[in-house]
Amino acid sequence: MRVALKIWRYDPQAGGRALREYEVDAPEWATLLDVLDLVKDRHDGTLAYRKSCRMMICGSCGMRMDGAAVLACKTRMYEIAESGHVPTISAMGNLPVVKDLVVDMEPFWSKLKAMKPWLRPGFAEPPDGKEFRVSQQEMNVIHKESLCINCGCCVSECNAMDSDPEFLGPQALAKGMRFVGDARDADAVERLEDYSGQHGIWECTRCYFCNQRCPKGVDPRDAIAKLGAEAVRLGIDRDMGAKHAKWFVTSAKTTGWLRETELVPKTQGIVRSIKDTKFAMQLARHGKVPFPFPPHVADKVDESRALYDVVKLQGREGAAGIVQGEKALAALDHGVHGSERDPYGPGSFPRPYLPGEEEAAS
Ligand code: SF4
Ligand code: SF4
Ligand code: FES
Repeated sequence: MRVALKIWRYDPQAGGRALREYEVDAPEWATLLDVLDLVKDRHDGTLAYRKSCRMMICGSCGMRMDGAAVLACKTRMYEIAESGHVPTISAMGNLPVVKDLVVDMEPFWSKLKAMKPWLRPGFAEPPDGKEFRVSQQEMNVIHKESLCINCGCCVSECNAMDSDPEFLGPQALAKGMRFVGDARDADAVERLEDYSGQHGIWECTRCYFCNQRCPKGVDPRDAIAKLGAEAVRLGIDRDMGAKHAKWFVTSAKTTGWLRETELVPKTQGIVRSIKDTKFAMQLARHGKVPFPFPPHVADKVDESRALYDVVKLQGREGAAGIVQGEKALAALDHGVHGSERDPYGPGSFPRPYLPGEEEAAS
């Protein structure tokens, strides 16, 4: 098949960017990575990109196709080429570009290291003196977080990192949950204290792009929600984000509404509320927030209260109360599934949406 690509090239010496188009003959089974190999071998040996395993394991080949992160070795080209679409390939976002499609992963690794990504079992000794045995049920809690291959696709698309490059980010926080939730680790409280700081758990904007783009079904946003829930369960709730979350629970339970007008006094205290009164009045005058008094109570508030009671009755506190998007590896959200060409069964090789398909699918 003939495959055409546009690639954003970046030359660190000259400092310039240029969009170049290439066209190659490729076998029908070719992935984006295969096509890049062909471009490099036959057309332009100066093209720079990373690869290693070619089988979605090493996490080296993260890049963007049409502005969204993909693993090049997981992205099939057949249907894209057949449609006549010419995708634009560029380096991942939120990381400095070194050359062409290669980014500097140093900020990524330093955040990962900041999570102290190793087991800290404390002074506990394995019962038989040899090893800690963990049940399947205990491992299920961190199953998805353990699937991470450190590719950076989630980081590339993270909104919060875009505005605060120091935000720990989805990959590092998912790794944090992998240890907080590990039955053998004895340092959950210390870890959660660390992760709840200024650039931590509560800085996530909940845009869910990391869940959408992760090629391994880790669902980092869900991991961050679990960290937040565990922090609140263990009383680590000094951060404004934790206070917001707690107030929303109280508010939904008592009135069936999210009473945002009362957020400031409930989470930031009276002094700050007085300072913000003028601003709040302006918002109210323009119909941006409802007047807080009398508090609005939903018609069917009983349903909201019953829901709260059910969750309490089930004892689903902390991470156990986070309802996971259980799609994971079975049905990753960012592409078309079920093609007869999927080599390992439907959904094993989702391809990115072609222009217009994503809107039609949503
Ligand atoms: S949900 Fe949070 S961590 Fe994930 S991409 Fe959005 S801001 Fe980043
Ligand atoms: S969480 Fe997913 S997208 Fe992020 S680094 Fe791990 S495997 Fe890649
Ligand atoms: S080359 Fe290893 S994940 Fe793509």
